[in-house]
Amino acid sequence: MQTKLHALTRTPAPSIANCELTHLQREPIDYAKAVAQHQLYCQALTNLGIKVTTLFHNDFADGVFVEDPAIVLDEVALITRPGAASRMDEVPTLATELARFREVKQMTPPATLEGGDVLCIGKKIFIGHSSRTNQSGIEQLKQIAKPLGYEINVGDVQHCLHLKTGCSYIGDDTILINPQWIDRDLFHNFQILEIDPSEPFAANAIFANDQILYSTSFPRTLERMEGLGFEANTVDNSELLKAESGLSCMSLIFKS
Ligand code: GLY
Repeated sequence: MQTKLHALTRTPAPSIANCELTHLQREPIDYAKAVAQHQLYCQALTNLGIKVTTLFHNDFADGVFVEDPAIVLDEVALITRPGAASRMDEVPTLATELARFREVKQMTPPATLEGGDVLCIGKKIFIGHSSRTNQSGIEQLKQIAKPLGYEINVGDVQHCLHLKTGCSYIGDDTILINPQWIDRDLFHNFQILEIDPSEPFAANAIFANDQILYSTSFPRTLERMEGLGFEANTVDNSELLKAESGLSCMSLIFKS
């Protein structure tokens, strides 16, 4: 029997208009549309067979990107220190929630690390060294994960916010990647599928319960994936993309 997956999500806050932006120009965000798209996203996760728990927004501007302040392994949850100081207030609420499911450990200063920089594929963990994740953050995650049998691989993140802005696992030993942002060599034991170059943000996807969840905003890359036999469920996150997000940032998915 397949282990049940659980996802934590958080409703977008009215203050999402003031979210952090690093590589994008600010555009107006239609709040009602963002909330409606988030509801469809939660429904899409449910359709993948995932039990979804949605937290209150607490008016955290970037709180909808609930993946960033925690790394949830099967054995333990690590509460991180986000690299954006404005996001520190999100941390305690997630720690409380995750304590219902796992032993919780806390990252300590001077470490910073965001979940968007961590890609877990079975017992392999890939960590992006980025503007949000520093060397101390990488070392603290290593110290927790290596004794649990995880293999740690570290790569640089350039020209984009997080590791998973530029690459994702889509099943069948395959990484979807933007090679302009993430070095393909980080994944030397995997098959590589490059995004369509006209869609630089297209490398973010969710793979859960052996299914892919993908954005409707990147039809050319979707066509490439389908051409190679990958079937994807799709959801419209176009309004939320304006807040420099990907699909994976909006949930923390873990075994119940
Ligand atoms: N707006 C996403 C982030 O910067 O954390």
